[in-house]
This record gives sequence, structure tokens and C-alpha cells, in this order.
Amino acid sequence: MGERTQLVAGNWKMNGLAADGVALARAVAARAAEPHRCDLLVCPPFTLIAAVAEALAGSDVGLGGQDCHAAASGAFTGCISAEMLRDAGCSHAIVGHSERRHTCGESDADVRAKAEAAWRAGLVAIVCVGEIRAEREAGRAVEIVSAQLAGSLPAGTGAAKLVIAYAPVWAIGTGLTATLADIAEIHAAIRRQIPAGTRILYGGSVNPRNAAEILALPEVDGALVGGASLKAEDFWAIAQAAR
Ligand code: PGA
Repeated sequence: MGERTQLVAGNWKMNGLAADGVALARAVAARAAEPHRCDLLVCPPFTLIAAVAEALAGSDVGLGGQDCHAAASGAFTGCISAEMLRDAGCSHAIVGHSERRHTCGESDADVRAKAEAAWRAGLVAIVCVGEIRAEREAGRAVEIVSAQLAGSLPAGTGAAKLVIAYAPVWAIGTGLTATLADIAEIHAAIRRQIPAGTRILYGGSVNPRNAAEILALPEVDGALVGGASLKAEDFWAIAQAAR
């Protein structure tokens, strides 16, 4: 048996109104009543967290936020703190997703502060890293991801409070996935920089067809699933592919 239980995490991104979000959460919770080998997590938009928490009650499906602010509270219009996520029922917070790094201009230092905030609030931080296409084509993927990780991880973390998600930007939402060899290479490089036992997820167009071969890689400890997490049956099929 592997020492690290795989984690299949659904990032719903900016999708879902109350009715469909609750229906999706209920469908995932119903499936999760069946035997599964992995840990399960869903990360709905902030507006749905309370309703999804209710829909997941009694299941073993965890709940996460997609981002958090570094501060616990204050004059930060439009932002949500890690403490608020915790208060709403979350156990995890994604920080540094590339959609925030690239569209909201978040730096490694911002991501590090958010990871610290997650821990302060008692959440597990899912720290995302990943290269853009030009960096991969230039043969710089390992260097870029290692630098992001070095800048984004606070000192003094333990594996229990941390998950890394390697999500190459060019593979997100594009239907393209990194090759198995590339995933293995990057995950091995990440492994050298993080506390023993930390889980490393792969993200980037994971779907029911490619999940089994990706999740079979020894260095892959789960998946961060975007698009396919919006369909309970696809999300469940990916979860069933966990080793
Ligand atoms: P995707 O998103 O599954 O839709 O490609 C993955 C991610 O954002 O990590």
C-alpha cells in the first residue's frame, strides 16, 4: 500500500448557481457513500460554500475554498479570509492557482502569505505551481516550478498542512495533458523540495479517460480537477481511478 492516500480535489472555479451547486455536491456525496480508495475534496465558489457544506454533511467529502486573503479580517473589499473559510466549514484552501497568479497578478510572495494565512486558520493549503507553455518549450519547466515553490512555501511547514498541485498552465482547460514522463519528472523535482509525506497532485485536463494512467504514477498523489469536476459522474470516475 502506498504511504500517501491519494486526494482527488474538484475545483469548480467560477461555476455554479445555488441549485446546480447543491445538486452537484449532493451527487458527489451520494457517490462517496460507495467504497473509494482516495480522499475527496470539492472547492466551490465562495457563494456556495455554506450550501455545499450542508449538502456534504455526513459524507467524507472535504470542502475547500479556491483562494483566501492573507489577512484575517479588515478593509479588503471583495476578499475572503482563511478564517472565514474555516468558519464556513472548509478544511482546505487552494492558493496560487495559475488563474490567480496570471489574471490577478499574484506573486510567489502573495501565495506564500496566503499559505501562511491558511495555516493560521487551521486549513490545509493546496499550493499550486506550474509553468507556461513558452517555459516548457524552452526546457525550463523544472527550473520555473522549483523557483515558484521556493518562493511560495512558507518555512516550517509539515506535510499534514500542505498539498502541492502541479498544474502546468498550458494544460489547464485545454484538453492537453503533460506526458507521463513530464509529470513524473516535475513531481520528482517537487518532492525534493517539500517535507516528506506531502501529497503532490497533478492538475491539467484530468478526465475519466486519462485519470488511471496519471494516478498510477508513483509520484502522483492525486488530481486537481477543474472542468471534469463539474459533472459528478466524471469526478467519481476519476476518483475510482485512484490507486
Ligand atoms: P482543468 O483545470 O481540469 O479544467 O484543466 C485544472 C486546474 O485548474 O488545475
